[in-house]
Amino acid sequence: MNVGVLGLGYWGPNLIRNFLGHPEIEKVIGCDKKEDRRNFIKSRFPSVELTDNASELMEGDCDIIAIATPVNTHYDFAKDALEAGKHIWVEKPFTSNSAQAEELIDIAQKKNLKIFVDHTFIYTGAVRKIKELIDKGELGDIIYFDSVRINLGLFQNDVNVIWDLAPHDLSIMNYILPGKIAKSVDADGIANFYNKENIAHISVHFEDNCFAHFHVNWTSPVKIRKMIVGGTKKMLVYDDMENFEKIKVYDSGIEMKARENIHEALAQYRIGDMYSPKITQTEALNLAVNEFIESINEDRMPLTSGKDGLDVVRILEATDKSINKGKQIQIGSTVVIGE
Ligand SMILES: NC(=O)c1ccc[n+]([C@@H]2O[C@H](COP(=O)([O-])OP(=O)(O)OC[C@H]3O[C@@H](n4cnc5c(N)ncnc54)[C@H](O)[C@@H]3O)[C@@H](O)[C@H]2O)c1
Repeated sequence: MNVGVLGLGYWGPNLIRNFLGHPEIEKVIGCDKKEDRRNFIKSRFPSVELTDNASELMEGDCDIIAIATPVNTHYDFAKDALEAGKHIWVEKPFTSNSAQAEELIDIAQKKNLKIFVDHTFIYTGAVRKIKELIDKGELGDIIYFDSVRINLGLFQNDVNVIWDLAPHDLSIMNYILPGKIAKSVDADGIANFYNKENIAHISVHFEDNCFAHFHVNWTSPVKIRKMIVGGTKKMLVYDDMENFEKIKVYDSGIEMKARENIHEALAQYRIGDMYSPKITQTEALNLAVNEFIESINEDRMPLTSGKDGLDVVRILEATDKSINKGKQIQIGSTVVIGE
């Protein structure tokens, strides 16, 4: 297969490196309108062909187009690529709104083409281990998910901090809690520097009383990437800043003892052992590229498909509405209905 990588800024070169490393990829063509980015790729990966013209890339002999340009360009490029008969890899977040995502999914279905949305964290050893632990019931029923992703971040022109950082956490939440139905979103944030929020807090309520909270911030002096998943049996902490022991599972919990009198509520605390499970170290993008190529070969949906991209975009869209209207927004299975 031949791959065209569109957008050679910060993330595109990682895609180039991983596509080049796949045995089924014969040729990689890189495209960026900026000469310095094309020169950078030429010096690092001399075998990559280069162009500054996206239309030329779409019309060429690529089987796959990978889109790593700013978010507000994803839809147009993705649509052009699908209409040119290419499978597409689209960076997170999939699109700028859910209508765009639905349209792309529809086009791909009609043309039997694959959409892969790069929810990279789903392919990390840590997140796969968390999923494994939850699936085998180690944590019991999940009652909350609490995530912090903050640092001195690169301000984006086209999206706020939620659309930039929260797709990582939302995609992890959706992956490890399949079948749970997000009911409503409550978001708050502040734009201190220009018209895009640089700090935000997002709450997601589920139909079964499970609760998720996300804190994202581009203006934090320290970098924190931490997540707590609380279960009725055990709880875990995932700290992505740790080189080793990224996940710690705590045999801790609380049980409310039955009582005769409401004033005698008895919380029984269990503070047991903690262990850190072994996690695999393979680069996430390597596994992501393998999964995409396999899904094309096997003519099946990839693990992170357009539908997964759409699910994340629906929640992101609800956060915008919530911030603008200052209230909780209901999200349905197909549309945001919080008017
Ligand atoms: N999966 C991840 O972990 C991850 C990490 C970082 C960024 N991303 C995503 O990757 C995408 C790109 O982010 P980035 O940080 O690399 O952005 P960037 O601004 O560093 O790079 C984007 C590149 O696209 C090029 N470009 C824009 N319009 C073009 C056009 N019409 N024709 C040709 N080239 C064009 C720009 O010149 C630029 O070099 C975003 O969607 C972002 O959210 C994903």
